[in-house]
Amino acid sequence: MAFPPGEGLKALLWKAAQSPLVDRLYAAPGNAGMAPLAELVPWNGDVEALADWALGEGIDLTLVGPEAPLVEGIADAFQKRGLLIFGPTQKAAMIEGSKAFAKGLMERYGIPTARYRVFQDPILALEYLEEVGVPIVIKDSGLAAGKGVTVAFDLHTAKQAVSNLLSGPEGGEVVMEEYLEGEEATVLALTDGETILPLLPSQDHKRLLDGDQGPMTGGMGAVAPYPMDAAIFRRVEEEILKPLIQGLRAEGVVYRGVVYAGLMLTREGPKVLEFNARFGDPEAQALLPLLQSDLVELALRVAEGRLKGAELSWREGASACVVLAAPGYPENPRKGIPLHVPEPPEGVLVFHAGTRLEGGVLWSQGGRVLNVVGLGQDLKEALERAYAFIPRVGFPGAQYRKDIGLRALKRG
Ligand code: AMP
Ligand code: GLY
Repeated sequence: MAFPPGEGLKALLWKAAQSPLVDRLYAAPGNAGMAPLAELVPWNGDVEALADWALGEGIDLTLVGPEAPLVEGIADAFQKRGLLIFGPTQKAAMIEGSKAFAKGLMERYGIPTARYRVFQDPILALEYLEEVGVPIVIKDSGLAAGKGVTVAFDLHTAKQAVSNLLSGPEGGEVVMEEYLEGEEATVLALTDGETILPLLPSQDHKRLLDGDQGPMTGGMGAVAPYPMDAAIFRRVEEEILKPLIQGLRAEGVVYRGVVYAGLMLTREGPKVLEFNARFGDPEAQALLPLLQSDLVELALRVAEGRLKGAELSWREGASACVVLAAPGYPENPRKGIPLHVPEPPEGVLVFHAGTRLEGGVLWSQGGRVLNVVGLGQDLKEALERAYAFIPRVGFPGAQYRKDIGLRALKRG
């Protein structure tokens, strides 16, 4: 089994390693946290070369973590060689690879989302901006590692975002959409293109600073389960997940893997902010430790189109992931900071993201560096455990939010 690289992927490897179905694990190549669990495989981003390697090694199943290789067509490359892979094909991954495509799909199948327009021409985009005014949300249509979105409350910021995205020599595409108000939540689901098996709801924290202030990030922390009303959860299944998977199928695309629905819970009901073609980061770090079912067995069933009849079992309690990010993140993260991670106590897990092991020393190697996950009987205990451990981690200048889970605590 092999894994292309990516942040937060250690949680997936950690979970896979617990499966009785696994005798050998490979990871391509990832981070320092993976080395004890898997044999590291060289990876230069070439999906065909990795598929050749997997064929040569007789790899039984491959799980894909991040979006870039999915959008590159890693699933197609593996399937072409008769190899089993958990992850959508290039066409199916367009739900994340192109926000313009995702919006069009939602429109065709009546999936609730913000009203929108797509622009490639900066002049037309700026004209539209003058016409509709603020607040408005401006999104890079392509992959942007969670950093391509500007929520603008003044025209100057909005114009600047449009210019930044469209005025480059290579051009670009923006989605401009209606600003939605409400509480954010995430629902992930496993699907083989037919059966849809939602995971527990979770909640990310997208802004860098406490109180949802500061710049957008890839995600600074997550809690699971997010206390979503059962009726709302059913609406997410019926109004969002089902029409998405069935709509894709109607267009000849069978989605196999995990689908991510980023939601705004508005007064009118749940609306889609974005779809991703993979597990969320850091949602996965919070969710996977709660999952009792064998992820590898589930992934096999997904890859083989046998998900019907599968069930998920979850451990009691709750989980909270707090991200430790490098100083300077997200604009300009400082790399090469020496880290010290002591052995975590019972109820705490540390998943690596941007780390590197060199000369016996652990170094920071990216924006989001470590994930500290607390598990507890309830969210309060989970948070207490995570936050009690963080001061013991040696990571000078680390940025982290002190208010992860507070909104979910208030709701629950
Ligand atoms: P996205 O990558 O599309 O999920 O956007 C990143 C973040 O921007 C979301 O998690 C929200 O916090 C915010 N956002 C995106 N779209 C909207 C919208 N239409 N209204 C309000 N906030 C939004
Ligand atoms: N947590 C947001 C994402 O994975 O894109």
